[in-house]
Amino acid sequence: MERFLLGTNWKMHKTFPEAVAYTERLKILVQQYPQCQFFIIPPSLYLRELAERLKGGQILLGAQNMHWREEGDYTGEISPAWLEACGVAVAELGHSERRQAYNENDVDLNRKVHAAFRHNMIPLLCVGESAQDKEYGVTAEKLRMQLKIGLFGVNPEQSSRLWIAYEPVWAIGPSGIPAEAAYVQAVHQMIRSMLLEQFGESGRRIPILYGGSVNPENCVSLAVCSEVNGLFIGRSAWDLEKWMLILERLHMAGVLEG
Ligand code: PGA
Repeated sequence: MERFLLGTNWKMHKTFPEAVAYTERLKILVQQYPQCQFFIIPPSLYLRELAERLKGGQILLGAQNMHWREEGDYTGEISPAWLEACGVAVAELGHSERRQAYNENDVDLNRKVHAAFRHNMIPLLCVGESAQDKEYGVTAEKLRMQLKIGLFGVNPEQSSRLWIAYEPVWAIGPSGIPAEAAYVQAVHQMIRSMLLEQFGESGRRIPILYGGSVNPENCVSLAVCSEVNGLFIGRSAWDLEKWMLILERLHMAGVLEG
């Protein structure tokens, strides 16, 4: 498995000056943790500037969404070719907010996964069950659908450039309920077995990140779970003091050393 992954999606937060100040400070702070792979996913309007600032450094840059076509009459969309040209390394695809509020479906996400590969980006496919799926006991079915359709046609060689984020919808955002570590571990193990089923032995090397109300209090218990290969953090990473606290705790617990 590659280095422990640590990243944040800013969603629609931060002004441009805030984005620049955060990025410049983060560049310095991460130097203490060369053993981790960091990534940030800012709003698309900031990508060009932040790509320049992150060039050759330790932090990968990601985009929150993109279209699967290179160009066309798609008002408001972002081409994967533009992201590639601007130095974006990671394409976050299928965050639950996009699935819920913008009707993103697994078939379109599969097109986006392939577009990311075509444009030399790592697809970071987000999967997760809703509170209702969990209540009905169809978490496994939901995840299997999201993985089997979302990753349809991906070959084992491509799978070495793929990241998965497990983000239970009920655990995300200010109204989310933090998930228990035991639950997270069980679901990550289930996702691993689905990836093995889909990609054979290559499925063992696909990093599975956990996201959803990760904070300084629960970060260690989540990060030590088997098959948790990284953390994908929202609110707690938008504030650099909190993110540093998370890093210190992970470091003290020996999680970052692999
Ligand atoms: P949160 O967001 O950490 O603020 O719950 C997680 C996410 O949406 O990826």
